[in-house]
Amino acid sequence: MCGIIGFTGKQPALPFLLQGLSRLEYRGYDSAGVTLVNSKALRTWKTKGRLSELEKLLSKDLAESCGIGHTRWATHGVPSNMNAHPHMNEEGTISVVHNGIVENYQELREELREEGYIFHSETDSEVIVQLLDFYYRKNPVMKEALAKTVKRLEGSYAICVTSIFEPDTIYVSKKESPMVLGQSKEGTFCASDAPAFLEYTREILPLQDGQSAILNAGSLEVFDASGKQIEPRWIHFPYDVQAAQKGGYDSFMLKEIHEQPSVIRETLRGRFRGTKTVLPMIDQMNVRWDRIDQTVFIACGTAYHACIYANLLYQKYTGKVSWVIPASEFRYCSPNVNEHTLCIFVSQSGETADTLAAIKLAKAKGCVTISVVNVLGSSISRMTDAVLYTAAGPEIAVASTKAYTTQLVLLHVLVLKLAEMYGIKVKGKSRLISDLKRLPEVTEQVLGQEEKMKELAGMLIDQRDAYFIGRQLDYPTALEGALKLKEISYVHADAYYAGELKHGPIALIEKDTVVTAMATQPEVASKTVSNIRETIARGARVILITGENMPAEEFEYVVRIPEISPELAAIPSAVLLQMFAYYGAKEKGCDIDKPRNLAKSVTVE
Ligand code: M6R
Repeated sequence: MCGIIGFTGKQPALPFLLQGLSRLEYRGYDSAGVTLVNSKALRTWKTKGRLSELEKLLSKDLAESCGIGHTRWATHGVPSNMNAHPHMNEEGTISVVHNGIVENYQELREELREEGYIFHSETDSEVIVQLLDFYYRKNPVMKEALAKTVKRLEGSYAICVTSIFEPDTIYVSKKESPMVLGQSKEGTFCASDAPAFLEYTREILPLQDGQSAILNAGSLEVFDASGKQIEPRWIHFPYDVQAAQKGGYDSFMLKEIHEQPSVIRETLRGRFRGTKTVLPMIDQMNVRWDRIDQTVFIACGTAYHACIYANLLYQKYTGKVSWVIPASEFRYCSPNVNEHTLCIFVSQSGETADTLAAIKLAKAKGCVTISVVNVLGSSISRMTDAVLYTAAGPEIAVASTKAYTTQLVLLHVLVLKLAEMYGIKVKGKSRLISDLKRLPEVTEQVLGQEEKMKELAGMLIDQRDAYFIGRQLDYPTALEGALKLKEISYVHADAYYAGELKHGPIALIEKDTVVTAMATQPEVASKTVSNIRETIARGARVILITGENMPAEEFEYVVRIPEISPELAAIPSAVLLQMFAYYGAKEKGCDIDKPRNLAKSVTVE
């Protein structure tokens, strides 16, 4: 949940650390800190608040060429100067930054207290530096001390360590929290995510669980869990630094909304041969498809909405039993799953703790597992039997946009593929495939309605509440529209099945309440229209999103999506609602890329 960076080289480390932290601020931003190291002392600055607060404390001419930095999203202890990282031992000789959760930190604290250690923060992370101190005193070899320390930690961690004992060296170790390494002519880097140092190299080394590494200006050694040196496995990061920056847009969110035509195109590239889907990962799975008797779609937040969509499609195309559940609930619902169950997990980051926990349970029960993930080499991608990658590129804004639409697209292809594996013929498949291929162009046309969505978003000023309604495949769109709006504009937003309004929620409708209704599904559109009339009769202002040819003359605010198969209408509709939320939040002056209380990657359960 936090962002960590380390740099050791031949030039001042501070600019690399600050630049890296600014790229990682999406991972958390309630406090920030750095330690710079030289042979005489460690110098640490840290503060509550954003990186800009930290920068105010730092002079520009700090010459140390090795250091570590951190940007925090609080899990244990409030955001405060004391709880900010880095954490130091009592003598100020060792400094540590940590991302993850030490589940047994209370126990370790007690044990260390008995040894005379004093704790200054409320964090779980402080035990790491104290344990390191403890083991280093017994045997002053940092690699050994770190190995002994991580052996004691239950939970997840990505850790960077510096000390005055080896002022040019950074030690790192990781389990279940991301850590990537890089080397360039400037020096050696470690970070929670590659964009932190992408300017300097696109060859990256994602550290695997249990591995550790020793970084020096001109060298990088990687070790397995037993401490044996291993050959690093580098991968080429497929995006340049521009892809991880704003590129002239006001915010990452707006940039990411506009990237959708191209990332949808990339996600679809090479996925079809005639009317057959091309997903070799699925072909290569050792699965008796005829024995799969139920499928479960599991994810969190926006990815969960993508699962609701996929579940509806799956039922429609295959007629087989399936269900959908948030990852945070899966573990606790006593799921009746086994080796005849297919579990499909969806995640942008590939690091969401709830989803990881759900995968562990599914695997323990012998289920067949597939993940749909955006981040290459992430934990989720490595845990499932097969992984399919969306090609959304780095998504920096906390509010997910392009990851969502690429998930819808790839899940659609996956569901078609599963139907093929079961030997089921999907009605209208060739039309669906040609419409899937048209999606980049359709999305481009929808982006052309930006001004209109901006104008409609003007209705939200002065509104405390907003409602989104839809039936069938329009329902996940309603949920996603409401989530987008609430997370970035703080307008209370709820989504309902349009037919459910009259069973209660309609009591909330009063004069001028803003209701956004989706009616893109011909089979149920007229029913939704009746529900819209019911809300208008109670004073609501209704924005209707519908297809080209649907009758809608009676309504004042109508936005049309280009002609497309109804099964795909959720994609252009979602793009419209993203713009609606974006301009609603902008109108209110919100910090769109960094909404309050949220972090991009939720690595705690
Ligand atoms: O990285 P993941 O897709 O697993 O993340 C899941 C949710 O935390 C994420 O979609 C969250 O709901 C976003 N803030 C939505 O915009």
